[in-house]
Amino acid sequence: MTRRKYVVGNWKMNGLTSALNEAQAIFAAAKEHPSVDVALCPPFTLIGPMIAAAPGAAVGGQDCHSAASGAYTGSVAASMLTDIGARLVIVGHSERREGFDESDADVKAKAEAALAAGLSVILCVGEPREVRESGGAIDYVLAQIAGSLPDEFDSTKLAIAYEPIWAIGTGLVPTVEDVAAMHGAIRAKLSDQAGSAAGQVMRILYGGSVNAENAEELLGAGDVDGALVGGASLTAAKFVPIVAAGAKLG
Ligand code: 13P
Repeated sequence: MTRRKYVVGNWKMNGLTSALNEAQAIFAAAKEHPSVDVALCPPFTLIGPMIAAAPGAAVGGQDCHSAASGAYTGSVAASMLTDIGARLVIVGHSERREGFDESDADVKAKAEAALAAGLSVILCVGEPREVRESGGAIDYVLAQIAGSLPDEFDSTKLAIAYEPIWAIGTGLVPTVEDVAAMHGAIRAKLSDQAGSAAGQVMRILYGGSVNAENAEELLGAGDVDGALVGGASLTAAKFVPIVAAGAKLG
């Protein structure tokens, strides 16, 4: 089964309209690597402007609400993202699970709402440092998947991002062996929970301190189908080499 490499930038709470030229440069360079699917998830405020600045590009949100509409001050519904041309959304990022108390059930409801609205979904999982150190990382992550994977879904539209919390923004990365072991365990769990065909189709991204220097090694690890990139996705100079590493492997 060949799965296309998928390299996604999560801009988190970074980026003013002055950053749109970086997005344009990223999407222009991505065209030189057609074997890789490239997407950017800027803050809500930049989704529309980014789509206007880079027509046809895959642009998405970093979160959505699980409800279709209603009295949820400050939230954005999945259909609102679709409405402005977004194609994907990240759900369950650890910065939302931790900072906004999102449970597995919340993440599952968000993923289901996003898929129903026609978005592709990147569902994030990942263990805190103490769980990694105690040897429980795989069990922890598989339990997150058990609780947050939608019951039914199109396996081409749902990707998992494994982001160990201790690797995010720290410059620390797991060993390639640990990444391969985790991704293999996730794929086995997906096959178990969603069926073996889905398990083979679904892409599993690695995230956490991916940069131009380590991208080739991480993207080349077993069962790694791409990367979810934070800090190194903010400029074309840092992000395009990661896309190029994906193309080399893909
Ligand atoms: P960094 O690449 O900055 O470590 O962030 C990873 C991340 O959280 C992407 O969602």
